[in-house]
Amino acid sequence: MSAHDGAPTLARQGPAVKDDASRRTTALRDFTVALREAREHCPGERAMIAHARELTVTFAARQSEWLTEAMCVPDAVQGFGAHLLHEEPDHTLAAFVVSWLPGRGTPPHDHGSWAVIVGLRGSELNRMWRRLDDGGRPGHAVLAPASERAIAMGGVVAMPSGAIHSVRNESDEVSVSLHVYGLHFNHARRSQFDPEARTEMPYQVRVSA
Ligand SMILES: [Fe+2]
Repeated sequence: MSAHDGAPTLARQGPAVKDDASRRTTALRDFTVALREAREHCPGERAMIAHARELTVTFAARQSEWLTEAMCVPDAVQGFGAHLLHEEPDHTLAAFVVSWLPGRGTPPHDHGSWAVIVGLRGSELNRMWRRLDDGGRPGHAVLAPASERAIAMGGVVAMPSGAIHSVRNESDEVSVSLHVYGLHFNHARRSQFDPEARTEMPYQVRVSA
Protein backbone atom coordinates (compact mmCIF):
# COMPACT_ATOMS: atom_id res chain seq x y z
CA MET A 1 0.00 0.00 0.00
CA SER A 2 1.51 3.32 -1.03
CA ALA A 3 1.41 6.57 0.89
CA HIS A 4 -1.01 7.90 -1.70
CA ASP A 5 -3.72 5.26 -1.41
CA GLY A 6 -6.99 6.92 -0.62
CA ALA A 7 -5.53 10.41 -0.97
CA PRO A 8 -7.21 12.87 -3.32
CA THR A 9 -5.93 13.86 -6.73
CA LEU A 10 -5.57 17.40 -8.05
CA ALA A 11 -8.54 17.79 -10.37
CA ARG A 12 -10.62 20.63 -11.69
CA GLN A 13 -13.75 21.25 -9.71
CA GLY A 14 -16.81 23.37 -10.19
CA PRO A 15 -18.29 24.96 -13.35
CA ALA A 16 -16.36 26.00 -16.45
CA VAL A 17 -14.40 29.21 -15.99
CA LYS A 18 -14.79 32.21 -18.27
CA ASP A 19 -11.99 34.67 -17.59
CA ASP A 20 -8.43 34.85 -16.30
CA ALA A 21 -9.40 35.86 -12.75
CA SER A 22 -11.89 33.05 -12.28
CA ARG A 23 -9.52 30.58 -13.94
CA ARG A 24 -6.82 31.66 -11.50
CA THR A 25 -9.21 31.37 -8.56
CA THR A 26 -10.31 27.90 -9.67
CA ALA A 27 -6.74 26.62 -10.16
CA LEU A 28 -5.67 27.90 -6.75
CA ARG A 29 -8.80 26.54 -5.07
CA ASP A 30 -8.25 23.09 -6.61
CA PHE A 31 -4.66 23.12 -5.36
CA THR A 32 -5.44 24.19 -1.83
CA VAL A 33 -8.42 21.82 -1.50
CA ALA A 34 -6.16 18.95 -2.63
CA LEU A 35 -3.43 19.97 -0.16
CA ARG A 36 -5.96 20.09 2.66
CA GLU A 37 -7.39 16.68 1.75
CA ALA A 38 -3.89 15.22 1.43
CA ARG A 39 -3.11 16.37 4.94
CA GLU A 40 -6.20 14.58 6.23
CA HIS A 41 -5.16 11.31 4.56
CA CYS A 42 -1.38 11.33 5.01
CA PRO A 43 -0.26 9.57 8.20
CA GLY A 44 2.92 11.58 8.77
CA GLU A 45 5.33 14.16 7.42
CA ARG A 46 7.06 11.82 5.00
CA ALA A 47 3.80 10.84 3.31
CA MET A 48 2.65 14.46 3.28
CA ILE A 49 5.84 15.63 1.59
CA ALA A 50 5.45 12.94 -1.09
CA HIS A 51 1.88 13.98 -1.76
CA ALA A 52 2.55 17.73 -1.56
CA ARG A 53 5.40 17.23 -4.04
CA GLU A 54 3.06 15.58 -6.54
CA LEU A 55 0.37 18.24 -6.12
CA THR A 56 2.85 21.13 -6.31
CA VAL A 57 4.50 19.81 -9.49
CA THR A 58 1.05 19.49 -11.09
CA PHE A 59 0.04 22.99 -9.98
CA ALA A 60 3.33 24.44 -11.23
CA ALA A 61 2.76 22.82 -14.63
CA ARG A 62 -0.54 24.75 -14.79
CA GLN A 63 1.25 28.08 -14.23
CA SER A 64 -0.31 29.62 -17.38
CA GLU A 65 -3.67 29.38 -15.57
CA TRP A 66 -2.71 31.21 -12.39
CA LEU A 67 0.72 32.89 -12.44
CA THR A 68 0.68 36.69 -12.98
CA GLU A 69 3.54 39.16 -13.48
CA ALA A 70 2.49 40.96 -10.29
CA MET A 71 3.40 37.79 -8.36
CA CYS A 72 6.93 37.79 -9.83
CA VAL A 73 8.34 41.10 -8.56
CA PRO A 74 11.60 40.73 -6.57
CA ASP A 75 12.24 42.91 -3.54
CA ALA A 76 15.44 44.86 -4.31
CA VAL A 77 16.45 45.21 -0.65
CA GLN A 78 15.84 41.60 0.30
CA GLY A 79 17.12 40.24 -3.02
CA PHE A 80 13.96 38.21 -3.60
CA GLY A 81 10.22 38.75 -3.47
CA ALA A 82 7.84 36.40 -1.67
CA HIS A 83 4.23 36.65 -2.83
CA LEU A 84 1.73 34.84 -0.61
CA LEU A 85 -0.65 32.70 -2.68
CA HIS A 86 -2.39 30.90 0.17
CA GLU A 87 -2.33 30.03 3.84
CA GLU A 88 -4.91 28.37 6.08
CA PRO A 89 -6.39 30.48 8.91
CA ASP A 90 -3.88 28.85 11.29
CA HIS A 91 -0.99 29.71 8.88
CA THR A 92 -0.47 26.08 7.81
CA LEU A 93 -0.24 24.94 4.16
CA ALA A 94 1.31 28.21 3.03
CA ALA A 95 2.12 28.68 -0.68
CA PHE A 96 4.30 31.44 -2.15
CA VAL A 97 5.66 32.59 -5.49
CA VAL A 98 9.29 33.56 -4.85
CA SER A 99 11.21 35.68 -7.38
CA TRP A 100 15.00 35.97 -7.21
CA LEU A 101 17.10 38.81 -8.57
CA PRO A 102 20.23 37.82 -10.53
CA GLY A 103 23.18 37.29 -8.21
CA ARG A 104 21.04 37.34 -5.07
CA GLY A 105 19.92 34.66 -2.67
CA THR A 106 19.47 33.69 0.96
CA PRO A 107 21.79 32.71 3.78
CA PRO A 108 21.52 29.10 4.92
CA HIS A 109 18.21 28.68 6.76
CA ASP A 110 15.65 26.14 7.91
CA HIS A 111 11.88 26.49 7.63
CA GLY A 112 10.33 25.21 10.87
CA SER A 113 8.25 22.77 8.79
CA TRP A 114 8.47 20.61 5.67
CA ALA A 115 8.97 22.43 2.38
CA VAL A 116 8.46 21.70 -1.32
CA ILE A 117 9.94 23.97 -4.01
CA VAL A 118 9.25 23.69 -7.74
CA GLY A 119 10.93 25.82 -10.44
CA LEU A 120 8.68 28.03 -12.59
CA ARG A 121 11.09 30.25 -14.60
CA GLY A 122 14.85 30.48 -14.97
CA SER A 123 17.21 28.51 -12.77
CA GLU A 124 18.26 28.76 -9.13
CA LEU A 125 20.91 26.96 -7.16
CA ASN A 126 19.92 25.11 -3.97
CA ARG A 127 22.72 24.18 -1.60
CA MET A 128 21.96 21.76 1.24
CA TRP A 129 23.86 22.09 4.55
CA ARG A 130 24.60 19.66 7.34
CA ARG A 131 24.58 20.81 10.94
CA LEU A 132 27.56 19.43 12.83
CA ASP A 133 26.98 20.73 16.37
CA ASP A 134 24.28 19.52 18.77
CA GLY A 135 22.41 22.85 18.94
CA GLY A 136 23.06 23.06 22.66
CA ARG A 137 24.74 26.48 22.66
CA PRO A 138 22.24 29.29 21.91
CA GLY A 139 23.20 31.41 18.90
CA HIS A 140 25.97 29.00 17.88
CA ALA A 141 25.85 26.60 14.93
CA VAL A 142 28.46 24.73 12.91
CA LEU A 143 27.43 24.00 9.33
CA ALA A 144 29.10 22.21 6.43
CA PRO A 145 27.94 22.19 2.80
CA ALA A 146 26.45 18.82 1.85
CA SER A 147 25.24 18.96 -1.76
CA GLU A 148 23.89 21.36 -4.35
CA ARG A 149 21.51 21.24 -7.24
CA ALA A 150 20.17 23.76 -9.75
CA ILE A 151 16.43 23.64 -10.36
CA ALA A 152 14.78 24.96 -13.51
CA MET A 153 11.13 24.78 -14.60
CA GLY A 154 9.56 21.64 -13.12
CA GLY A 155 12.60 20.81 -10.99
CA VAL A 156 11.83 19.96 -7.34
CA VAL A 157 13.51 20.29 -3.97
CA ALA A 158 11.59 18.64 -1.10
CA MET A 159 12.80 19.03 2.48
CA PRO A 160 11.69 17.58 5.82
CA SER A 161 11.47 19.73 8.96
CA GLY A 162 14.95 20.66 10.12
CA ALA A 163 16.59 20.60 6.68
CA ILE A 164 18.92 23.55 6.03
CA HIS A 165 19.46 25.05 2.59
CA SER A 166 20.51 28.25 0.89
CA VAL A 167 19.35 29.54 -2.48
CA ARG A 168 21.13 31.65 -5.06
CA ASN A 169 20.18 32.86 -8.51
CA GLU A 170 23.44 32.62 -10.42
CA SER A 171 21.85 33.48 -13.77
CA ASP A 172 21.53 36.94 -15.32
CA GLU A 173 17.72 36.95 -15.28
CA VAL A 174 15.03 36.85 -12.61
CA SER A 175 14.18 33.29 -11.56
CA VAL A 176 10.81 32.30 -10.13
CA SER A 177 9.76 29.29 -8.07
CA LEU A 178 6.69 27.98 -6.25
CA HIS A 179 7.16 27.21 -2.55
CA VAL A 180 4.79 25.25 -0.30
CA TYR A 181 5.34 24.83 3.45
CA GLY A 182 3.63 22.94 6.23
CA LEU A 183 3.60 26.25 8.12
CA HIS A 184 4.08 29.86 6.95
CA PHE A 185 7.78 30.47 7.60
CA ASN A 186 7.19 33.78 9.40
CA HIS A 187 4.94 31.96 11.88
CA ALA A 188 7.43 29.14 12.41
CA ARG A 189 10.32 28.99 14.82
CA ARG A 190 13.21 28.91 12.40
CA SER A 191 16.71 30.21 11.87
CA GLN A 192 19.23 31.67 9.48
CA PHE A 193 22.88 30.68 9.79
CA ASP A 194 26.27 32.23 9.06
CA PRO A 195 28.60 29.29 8.40
CA GLU A 196 31.76 31.42 8.65
CA ALA A 197 30.83 33.21 11.88
CA ARG A 198 29.20 30.00 13.16
CA THR A 199 26.08 31.85 14.28
CA GLU A 200 22.35 31.07 14.34
CA MET A 201 19.72 33.84 14.38
CA PRO A 202 15.94 34.12 13.85
CA TYR A 203 14.95 34.52 10.19
CA GLN A 204 12.02 36.59 8.97
CA VAL A 205 11.16 37.30 5.33
CA ARG A 206 9.30 40.27 3.88
CA VAL A 207 6.16 38.95 2.19
CA SER A 208 3.75 40.63 -0.23
CA ALA A 209 0.18 39.56 -0.89
FE1 LIG B 1 14.16 28.05 2.07
